[in-house]
Amino acid sequence: MSDQRFYVTTPIYYVNDIPHIGHAYTTVTADALARWHRLLGEEVFFLTGTDEHGLKVQRAAEERGVTPQEHADATSARFRETWDLLDISYDDYIRTTEPRHAAAVQTLLTRCYENGHIYKDTYAGLYCVACEAYYTADELIDGTDCPIHLRPVEELEEENWFFRLSAFEQPLLDLYTARPEAIHPDGKRNEALGLIRQGLKDVSISRTSISWGIPVPWDPDHVFYVWYDALINYATAVGYGADPDRFAAWWPHVHHIIGKDILRFHCVYWPAMLLAAGEAAPHEIDVHGFLLVGGEKMSKTRLNQIFPADLVEDFGVDGFRFHFLRDATFGPDGDFSYEAMVARYNTDLANNLGNLLARVATVVAKKCDGIGPAPTPDSPLAAVAAEVVAETSAAWAAVAPSVALEATWRLLREANAHLEAHEPWKMDPGPAVEAVLGDALEVLRLVAVLASPAIPNTTAEVWRRIGLAGGPADRPLAEVAPWGGYPGGLPVEKGAPLFPRISLPEA
Ligand code: ME8
Ligand code: MG
Repeated sequence: MSDQRFYVTTPIYYVNDIPHIGHAYTTVTADALARWHRLLGEEVFFLTGTDEHGLKVQRAAEERGVTPQEHADATSARFRETWDLLDISYDDYIRTTEPRHAAAVQTLLTRCYENGHIYKDTYAGLYCVACEAYYTADELIDGTDCPIHLRPVEELEEENWFFRLSAFEQPLLDLYTARPEAIHPDGKRNEALGLIRQGLKDVSISRTSISWGIPVPWDPDHVFYVWYDALINYATAVGYGADPDRFAAWWPHVHHIIGKDILRFHCVYWPAMLLAAGEAAPHEIDVHGFLLVGGEKMSKTRLNQIFPADLVEDFGVDGFRFHFLRDATFGPDGDFSYEAMVARYNTDLANNLGNLLARVATVVAKKCDGIGPAPTPDSPLAAVAAEVVAETSAAWAAVAPSVALEATWRLLREANAHLEAHEPWKMDPGPAVEAVLGDALEVLRLVAVLASPAIPNTTAEVWRRIGLAGGPADRPLAEVAPWGGYPGGLPVEKGAPLFPRISLPEA
């Protein structure tokens, strides 16, 4: 294991909603990144969880006639079940109602307070309960509605504790000038810089009107406003305030994967809070766009949410994961389309991958007594493979899963073309047919390794069917990437189609 560390997080999801494909998109992306970095031999810590305080949760619980904790327990469990269904390899699942989190929140904000960055004042404003955020009148649609939830905001006036965000305008500009790679992709960094350059006002960080939250330690009539509680989860989980050595080991390597809706909180407020507490700003924030359905945002009220389990029923877990990683370019918004999902499944998974394995296994059975031959060192596919390993690696490093998978699939297309050109099924048994099949088996081995972060189950099955022991992600990439790793002499099994073709239901 190398001494490199990779700490990756998803947002912690609100327990007022149940998991849909938008949440799944972020979480699958973070999972694939975690798996890729484990494959590199790095020490990885992958965090996800749920955000359980605040007015929204308090009200959702009231509507259902249960306590906020009961409501949070039930919904948090649904997120966890969904992540288990999707083979999300999280190392920790944090819930903001856990005692370890309350302790970390109180420690971090007390530090900000003692450093002079928190003071008391009265606040009156227009509040969107769904966002848990105040808006200014000119940010609203028609002067009344939240720009995100398209429903009326409420007037709220309270005595609050304020965070001196205004003092961090220049430090944040300096930070992003010195380390532009801290926000990715470029367009999202520019958006963050735009927000900062518009000028930062101090923000209220406590509430007295709500009881469902973490008390302000120096003024316990107040609870911290849910966002200042929530953001700190990323620090809690690596031992902030409880285990300084652990925090020091992981914090410099953090990568926050988030959607564009929470860019302001992650790229402006959170680094400012960390600086105020005397800690380093996040190492990297990777911001993706929204998945739309028929061009619209998914929401409970529009009844257009799509749930992971329904798609998993049709496409399997790996079919689900592959679609979102391969078809949703990280950064811009994208429209979800069932037809596009079917097309991608059939082309890339059923044809390029599934058929290659089936064809190779069939010919190995006929011409080589079912024993896979070794690849040839001077195969024309060897050069392609080296390029593909490099391109795939660069794309994962740049948080571009769609580019990474496109690169990996080029090797499959070239291998299929190589088979078409040589037609081993027409050849007599002997060294010539063995060379073609050995090269194809080597491609399957390599693709199983390279695609394992995206489709962990199927790549493990490919590995097994070509006779290899263990799994495709067992050894570091650097050891298994060179051409020629397939030893030959192993039994090859055809088995049932990896990805049975799917036809679209009649319209
Ligand atoms: O904002 N397309 O939680 P949340 C893509 N608790 N991603 C989507 C999406 C869509 N249509 N819908 C949701 C919160 N997401 C806070 C976060 S973090 C300290 C606190 C994903 O349940 C995307 O990652 O509203 C987005 O940022 C997140 O879910 C919002 O989840
Ligand atoms: Mg939201």
